[in-house]
Amino acid sequence: MTIKNNFLNINSLSNDEIKNLILLAHEFRNGKQVKLNQPIYSANLFFENSTRTHTSFEMAQRKLGLQSFDINPQTSSMQKGESLSDTVKTLQAIGMNCLIIRHKATGWYKELLADPNIKLSLINAGDGSGQHPSQSLLDLVTIDDEFKKFSGLKIGIIGDLSHSRVARSDAEILKHLGAQIYFSGPKEWYPKDFNNFGEYVNFDEIIEKLDVVMMLRVQLERLNQELVSSFTPNNYFKHYGLTESRAAEMKKDAIIMHPAPVNRDVEIASSLVESPHSRIFRQMQNGVFARMAILATILKNQGLLEEYKCKS
Ligand code: CP
Repeated sequence: MTIKNNFLNINSLSNDEIKNLILLAHEFRNGKQVKLNQPIYSANLFFENSTRTHTSFEMAQRKLGLQSFDINPQTSSMQKGESLSDTVKTLQAIGMNCLIIRHKATGWYKELLADPNIKLSLINAGDGSGQHPSQSLLDLVTIDDEFKKFSGLKIGIIGDLSHSRVARSDAEILKHLGAQIYFSGPKEWYPKDFNNFGEYVNFDEIIEKLDVVMMLRVQLERLNQELVSSFTPNNYFKHYGLTESRAAEMKKDAIIMHPAPVNRDVEIASSLVESPHSRIFRQMQNGVFARMAILATILKNQGLLEEYKCKS
């Protein structure tokens, strides 16, 4: 699959496509402007809560000059039983060129891709515990900012691995790009297939070797009631969190990342969220430029955007 019409899984893109997206995001951050060849209409359809992804896609749409619509599933006719597929076809009939969708169903887009009547562009803003490809792109942009390479970097992804689409899509793409991936967190939350991307390690034994310490949010909303009742934030923080004493072991040039929202003093000490090592708010800034790059690439491939040139 290429990025021609849709952006659904960053791990299906070629290295050149990823490199171009990263370069383009950097160019947008440096003030690059593009011109649309015709009016473009884009709708955001979020079935799960979001602040960063939703707002930064909307910011990216506005910065590129797209007309953006916010469709609230709670007030849409999906509440009367209309399917996702019919909703997508309805929005297409009304004139949308592009839909950005977050949905709790892993692989929500597969059925839509198989429908020959759906021709508008689909962008995955997170599918269940599958992928979060625009987050992965902004994470790549943030790591590239810092190290100008991926190959050979030691990256730790720490925390609630079993529920994290960020962990899955980041680990897969970073391994593909040559990074060495280490996982830690509660062993019972470690999916065995993550062995395909890296190895499970003791956080305290690996932290001094890491270039990137990527902490994950504990996704209480995805835990079953029994686990929620037995979850104790202080205990989690002590055993798996990025405490000040663990952070003191980090390399001088290592960075802290977190996709956010952050549970302060659960996954990471509150004092570290805005510390010199942290790139957490930088990730959010880069999210706008990464999403501009995704939208612009799709529009360019469809001939809807004036030519742009990536600096190499
Ligand atoms: N990181 C991320 O996806 O944040 P939101 O859930 O706020 O979009």
